[in-house]
Amino acid sequence: MKNTLLFSPMQLRDLELKNRIVVAPMHQYSAEKGFPTNWHLVNAGKFAAGGAGLVIVESTKVERRGCGTLGDLGIWDDKFIEPLANIARFIKANGAAAGIQLGHTGRKGKSRRPWEGDGPLSAEALAEVEDLKDWDIIAPSALPFGEGWTQPRALERSEIPGAIDAWGKAAARADRAGFDTLEIHGAHGYLIHEFLSPEANQRTDDYGGSEQNRMRFAIEVVESIRAHWPQSKPLFMRLSIEDEAGWGPAENVRLAKILKTKGVDVIDCSTGGLNSKIPNFFRLNEYGYQVQFADRIKREADIMTMAVGLIIHGDQAETILQSKQADLVAVGREFLNNPNWAMDAAQKLGVDPTFSQAPQQFGFWLAKRARRGFGGNPSTWQNGIAADK
Ligand SMILES: Cc1cc2nc3c(=O)[nH]c(=O)nc-3n(C[C@H](O)[C@H](O)[C@H](O)COP(=O)(O)O)c2cc1C
Repeated sequence: MKNTLLFSPMQLRDLELKNRIVVAPMHQYSAEKGFPTNWHLVNAGKFAAGGAGLVIVESTKVERRGCGTLGDLGIWDDKFIEPLANIARFIKANGAAAGIQLGHTGRKGKSRRPWEGDGPLSAEALAEVEDLKDWDIIAPSALPFGEGWTQPRALERSEIPGAIDAWGKAAARADRAGFDTLEIHGAHGYLIHEFLSPEANQRTDDYGGSEQNRMRFAIEVVESIRAHWPQSKPLFMRLSIEDEAGWGPAENVRLAKILKTKGVDVIDCSTGGLNSKIPNFFRLNEYGYQVQFADRIKREADIMTMAVGLIIHGDQAETILQSKQADLVAVGREFLNNPNWAMDAAQKLGVDPTFSQAPQQFGFWLAKRARRGFGGNPSTWQNGIAADK
């Protein structure tokens, strides 16, 4: 049995992760009036059973008006605690730590599900929304995401403390639901990122203008969350380290240094999403295209980072950790392709030849098959990134 960094445990405050493999938050667009469905349970559960150390539930909205589209998960009311707790329990029962991402879509709200095409929801679709009056699209400034997109309303200065408080209250609910860790969504052109951006934020009060002012909303969200989220539990924050619209690595290094002092433990390093003219992160088609940003933030801000984006193979993930470019790796779409990605990587890296780390419901049978000397390779088998070059 080989030793790897990928499969060595990691301590984050009082939470011990069994390995450094994280399932990236992925919207399922499948909630009903903000409530999770059986789909969410199965989706999260299969990644946990597949061996991930931490499963982060998709961006769950801290306010009704922060929903992006139809089917967003909600955490803006206590009524969501028990249904979310069911998911957290199921993840933990299947061997992983349970995380949840908190989000607010800001000006990108009222849009279509991705498979219905990019763009705002039609008038007919909106007419079907029962609580449409509560879906008030807000942003730092009254500037739409792009031409033809929903026109947001600029938050009044007097409304900002309430908008920040919503994050703290949501964190308290996530704690009560039993989540082990929480990630703040500060990336992809959503509300927090909009405040950070010199393009989306044209405010003239103390939340706009200078870099310090633009960072204020993000920092106060962290303060509000840390006031409600136990000190024993780790806190992640996802940022667009390069948005190609004026908010880049140097700015994020400065922000990350401040966030560290406010109790953020890990920066999850993503990119893009600020406006409709800039194609989002999915256009980049190279292995580990965002790893460079995790590396830079880790070195220059002296904070733990998580790398994400086309991390496909176990040996690739191991190299990222060995070369100290990041402390954790998050895998998104490849977990959709193979929910047992972590178990598969443990096999390919020689970490668990006896399937001892797999749930006994399938580990028992796979170990038996291996012991009997089955000479073929598993269906997912290949030699890794080296064989792909
Ligand atoms: C279906 C889907 C839904 C996503 N939803 C979220 C989300 O809720 N929050 C978020 O920060 N990123 C979201 N992302 C981005 C992923 O977390 C991840 O950063 C991105 O897919 C790149 O990693 P990958 O190449 O491993 O998929 C989503 C991606 C996909 C494919």
